Amino acid sequence: MTSLIEATDLTVSHGGLGAPVLSHVDFLIRPAEIVTVVGPNGSGKSTLIRALLGHVALDSGRVERAPGLRIGYVPQRVHIERAMPMTVRRFLSLPHRVRDDLAAAALARTGVPGLEQRQITALSGGQFQRVLLARALLNDPQLLVLDEPTQGLDQPGIVAFYKLIEEVRAETGAAVLMVSHDLLVVMRASDRVVCLNGHVCCEGTPQAVSAAPAYRALFGAESQGTLALYRHQHDHDHDHIAGDHHHGPGCTHPH
Ligand SMILES: Nc1ncnc2c1ncn2[C@@H]1O[C@H](COP(=O)(O)OP(=O)(O)OP(=O)(O)O)[C@@H](O)[C@H]1O
Ligand SMILES: [Mg+2]
Repeated sequence: MTSLIEATDLTVSHGGLGAPVLSHVDFLIRPAEIVTVVGPNGSGKSTLIRALLGHVALDSGRVERAPGLRIGYVPQRVHIERAMPMTVRRFLSLPHRVRDDLAAAALARTGVPGLEQRQITALSGGQFQRVLLARALLNDPQLLVLDEPTQGLDQPGIVAFYKLIEEVRAETGAAVLMVSHDLLVVMRASDRVVCLNGHVCCEGTPQAVSAAPAYRALFGAESQGTLALYRHQHDHDHDHIAGDHHHGPGCTHPH
């Protein structure tokens, strides 16, 4: 198996009630790739992530994970009991105890060194997201899975966070699977984009997806920004490789 996770023909309906949330979805992620899943609210992004991790029951289809795959996961919602005091240091040792030096190194790596004794509930949104990333890195993951990791961050915070993700990938070789609504920034930081709306509407390079009619239909005005970005890059790219600007074969809409 050359991919880290490979899903074939996934259909998920959360207990079989009502219409499926995901229908016939194929998905794979290879080592060291940065793949971003985009799509409207309720389009099944978190469900796909959880299905890939084996956290939800499948109606049909198959998910294969590379044997022994180490995954660092930051879920979309992390429930912290506000009444219960918990330091950053203690949080990093959940669910598995980690050594002080490794905890300190992870916090330093994510740009929040020395926060060990702070209360989790007293952190700013940006600090908290970085602490979550630090915790995900502690397991020396081959795959980082981040479900909307920049929620609550301001624009400079979002840009800095994606830069950090690219640095981590470059240093550790970990693949990254992200869900994001930050279209413009995240498209630039991704090798591949999957546009989801209950099924895979289109997928491919950021350039190909931003030009795909299905993507533009889903994201409307916002998609103009990403398209303009790639048109601009195209205009200024004079030494392109043959085939570089053709749209990937994956940009189709099944309906
Ligand atoms: N545990 C669950 N039980 C029943 N229905 C669920 C469950 N989790 C999600 N759903 C439903 O599945 C659909 C897809 O939800 P999901 O959380 O995957 O969407 P999403 O694309 O991640 O949305 P968002 O952008 O808001 O995070 C929604 O209609 C949601 O109500
Ligand atoms: Mg979600």
